[in-house]
Amino acid sequence: MSDLLAEQLAYYRARAGEYDDWWLRRGRYDRGPEASATWRAEAAEVEKALDAMAPHGAALELACGTGIWTARLAPHASSLLAVDGAPEALALAAARLRGEAHVRFESANLFDWRPPRRFDRVCFGFWLSHVPEERFDDFWGLVRDALAPGGQFFLVDSLHEATSTARDHALAPAAAGVQARRLADGRRFEVVKVYHAPEALTARLARLGFAAALRATPNYFLYGSGRVA
Ligand SMILES: C[S@@+](CC[C@H](N)C(=O)[O-])C[C@H]1O[C@@H](n2cnc3c(N)ncnc32)[C@H](O)[C@@H]1O
Repeated sequence: MSDLLAEQLAYYRARAGEYDDWWLRRGRYDRGPEASATWRAEAAEVEKALDAMAPHGAALELACGTGIWTARLAPHASSLLAVDGAPEALALAAARLRGEAHVRFESANLFDWRPPRRFDRVCFGFWLSHVPEERFDDFWGLVRDALAPGGQFFLVDSLHEATSTARDHALAPAAAGVQARRLADGRRFEVVKVYHAPEALTARLARLGFAAALRATPNYFLYGSGRVA
C-alpha cells in the first residue's frame, strides 16, 4: 500500500469512534439547522433509491465502516458480507448489527482483496472517492468479478461541497485528488478524495463495460446503480 493509502486507512481507524458525527451532522459537522435539514432530505433520496433497487439475495458491501449502510442493506439481503480495513469501525458495525446472523464482517485491505464468490448486489458508500485514479480500473474489475450474472451495484458518494465536511476542514479544489482531514483531537491526516460527476462517471463506466444510472442530489450526494452491460 502507498504511504497515502496507509495514511487514509490510519485516519479511518483513528476516526471510527467519531465517524458517525459526520453522517448525523453533529459537533464539528453541524453546519446549522438549514444545512442539516438539506442533508437529511438528500440522504433520504439516496436511501429511497437504495430501497427501490431492492438489494436482495447475496449482498456484498465494500468499505462498510461503522455500518450505517450495512444496517440499511441487512433487512433486504438473504446474506451480507461487509468488508472494511478498519477493525475499530468493524467492531462498531458488528455492535450495530448485533443479532443479524446473516451478516458477516471481514477485515481486509480492499486494494488487495478479491471476492470469495459472486453476489447479487455489491454496494459501496463513500468509498469510490477514496480510490485513487490509478486504481480506478482495478477497483471496477473487482466489482465486475464480484457480481453474479444479472447482479447490480449501488454506490453513493460525496459531491464537492464545502458544508459537507467539518467546520475545521478547508476543502481543497476537487482537482487536487487529496484532502486534509482532522480528528476532533486535532490530529491531521491526508486522504484520497476523487470527486466524480454523474455524467462523466457513467461514460467512464460504459467504457469499462458497465451500464449505470447515476444522478446527483442538489448539494451533497452522487448515487445510483448499474450492472455489467
Ligand atoms: C468514508 S468511509 C465510508 C464508510 C461507510 N461506507 C459509510 O458510508 O459510512 C471509508 C471507509 O473505507 C475504509 N477503508 C479505508 N481504506 C481502506 C482499505 N485500504 N481497505 C479497506 N477499507 C478501507 C475505512 O476504514 C472507512 O470505513
